[in-house]
Amino acid sequence: MEKSFPHEPVSQRLPESMSHVFSMLLREWHLRYGRHDLPWQNRGPYATWISEIMLQQTQVTVVIPYFNRFMDSFPTVEALALASEDEVLLHWAGLGYYSRARNLHFAAKQICQLYNGKVPYQFEQLLSLRGVGRSTAGAILSLGHKRFGVIQDGNVRRVLSRFFAVAGDLTTVAKQNELWDLATQLTPRKGQDAMIHSQAIMDLGALICSKIKPRCPKCPLAKDCLALRHDTIEKFPGPKVKRLKRQETWIVLELKNTKGEIYFEKRSDKGIWGGLYAPPIGANLKELKERYFIDHALKAEYRSKLKHAFSHFAVTLEHFVLNVNSVSSNKNGIWTQIDNFNKGLPSPIIKLLNRTPE
Ligand code: ADE
Repeated sequence: MEKSFPHEPVSQRLPESMSHVFSMLLREWHLRYGRHDLPWQNRGPYATWISEIMLQQTQVTVVIPYFNRFMDSFPTVEALALASEDEVLLHWAGLGYYSRARNLHFAAKQICQLYNGKVPYQFEQLLSLRGVGRSTAGAILSLGHKRFGVIQDGNVRRVLSRFFAVAGDLTTVAKQNELWDLATQLTPRKGQDAMIHSQAIMDLGALICSKIKPRCPKCPLAKDCLALRHDTIEKFPGPKVKRLKRQETWIVLELKNTKGEIYFEKRSDKGIWGGLYAPPIGANLKELKERYFIDHALKAEYRSKLKHAFSHFAVTLEHFVLNVNSVSSNKNGIWTQIDNFNKGLPSPIIKLLNRTPE
């Protein structure tokens, strides 16, 4: 998604003195009030890369234990490249958006083959890694390599939209380009300064220029913030144009054998929960009956349901249980007690299987 914006002409030329003052105020604030003890800070480009991918859709407090476990198990690019996909996914289970983990694993192999196991510091080379878009590449450059690089996460977008009063839906291509141009002009060229600037602007967004109840009196940029000047902070960022999510219902069929074991299959790499393990999932019981050649599938017993939202659609998972002796499937399924299962399972599936019947 990040990669595909066509880059359009610069929309606003900032005087150099303004960029300078902006980043200087930010850096001074960061020195005193910023975050200096996040576990991925000052640990080089590999740690930055892993943390940035985890932080793409997940909050800092949730990411920290996952990051620490991941780095303990895969301390280097090479260790990650040599791990099995199941091992990597197991470390990701619960974070969601599993394609991120598969892409990381693939990109680790790319780095070993093409760059001798060293995370590259050329912007284009970073962009060629699977799962790395321009903001992640900018973060790896500035935070990891201490070189010039521009970042643009939700925190940065919020700060810039308020400071420059950039109105409207910031997810549109035109607005994204406008914000990129501003962010690029504001980022210092010197590596060490770019590193501090990147962390500082994210910290300001997280700690001061927060979504709700921003702490404007404590903001180092308050004097020149356009939204604050016009008392319109709560209007920025503007509302996203609502796109209605598609709704689906999936049947999750828990197949149980006489030993009380449950049947799990590794899901295809493509699509939702790719590479993770789950019971058979289908649109309805009839489809599952035919797919697994289970004559009595329509007699499966309903247990409970659970709603889950993905980024592009929402699903209602309906949990059914059926006792069977065996399963015919061309996939390599595993029979196991769920408590002893040491493979990656999607969190909604864990929740659903542990639920008491309605
Ligand atoms: N979100 C994305 N990158 C981050 C970082 N380095 N620190 C805190 N939050 C972040």
